[in-house]
Amino acid sequence: MGRVEGKVALISGVARGQGRSHALRLAEEGADIIGFDVCANNDVVAYPLATEDDLEETGRLIEKFGRKSYLRKADVRDIDAVKSVIEGGVTEFGRLDIVLANAGIMPTIGDECLLDSAYYQSIDVMLNGVYNTVYPAIPHIKAGDRGGAVVITSSTAGLKGTGDGTSGVLGYVAAKHGVVGLMRAWANAHAADRIRVNTVHPAGVNTPMILNQAFTDYVESHPEILDNVKNPLPTIDGLIDANDVSNLVLHLVSDEGRFTTGATMTVDAGFTNKI
Ligand SMILES: NC(=O)c1ccc[n+]([C@@H]2O[C@H](COP(=O)([O-])OP(=O)(O)OC[C@H]3O[C@@H](n4cnc5c(N)ncnc54)[C@H](O)[C@@H]3O)[C@@H](O)[C@H]2O)c1
Repeated sequence: MGRVEGKVALISGVARGQGRSHALRLAEEGADIIGFDVCANNDVVAYPLATEDDLEETGRLIEKFGRKSYLRKADVRDIDAVKSVIEGGVTEFGRLDIVLANAGIMPTIGDECLLDSAYYQSIDVMLNGVYNTVYPAIPHIKAGDRGGAVVITSSTAGLKGTGDGTSGVLGYVAAKHGVVGLMRAWANAHAADRIRVNTVHPAGVNTPMILNQAFTDYVESHPEILDNVKNPLPTIDGLIDANDVSNLVLHLVSDEGRFTTGATMTVDAGFTNKI
């Protein structure tokens, strides 16, 4: 029996990277997946976001584990679009147990990071977008009267005042700190219904957010960034694996995490504790 057997999980930003990795890890452990992704680029982001092909590939990979998926193209900045995905998925699968608010952008590199809109887009996607994902999902979890779990993907930048003070970095840091406030308030508001809410705070992860030409070029012109993001524990190329985050997420949403709520959980190779 899988660790989340028979459960249904909603995941934002599911087309690739950590979102896809979480979907596959949970499917492997018995969950069906409702998910969405914008599948379009963003003007303040210097690297390409996911495509519709990526989203379809996530669906194919979930099915290889014998689980079902309900995946749609939707923008986390648009609460009506997100509600429609949630309602469609819950109608299809009949329940909702787990929410992973994972979608994100890194408008912290290139000329784009100097624009005011890089700040506002960060807040829209990664703070308002988390509200748009979790708030409409909670009544569906409550309706099952079986408890549930929400995990919001923050960052080490949600615990430290990281970065060089550009608009994009400020937006990223503010959004990733902001979701800790949402998490704490939701954890208290929904504990009586056995709905647990936590944040995860990864260090650099080996996903297309980092593994792209724009980031490589940025590091070449700003080599000091490598010192800033260096982890105490040895990692491959300074990055942890998406599966390292998925394993923490799986722990939090399974019964193993049944008494963990209101917590900021790091998976950061010691980065946050670094002197
Ligand atoms: N990669 C890292 O180093 C790192 C470190 C710490 C935290 N994070 C966070 O982890 C989360 C996942 O990022 P990742 O590393 O998998 O990067 P990624 O770029 O591979 O995946 C992010 C996904 O979010 C989607 N997305 C972007 N804007 C969206 C929108 N408006 N609506 C719906 N979907 C949207 C993208 O299309 C993409 O599929 C993000 O919240 C990110 O901030 C990443």
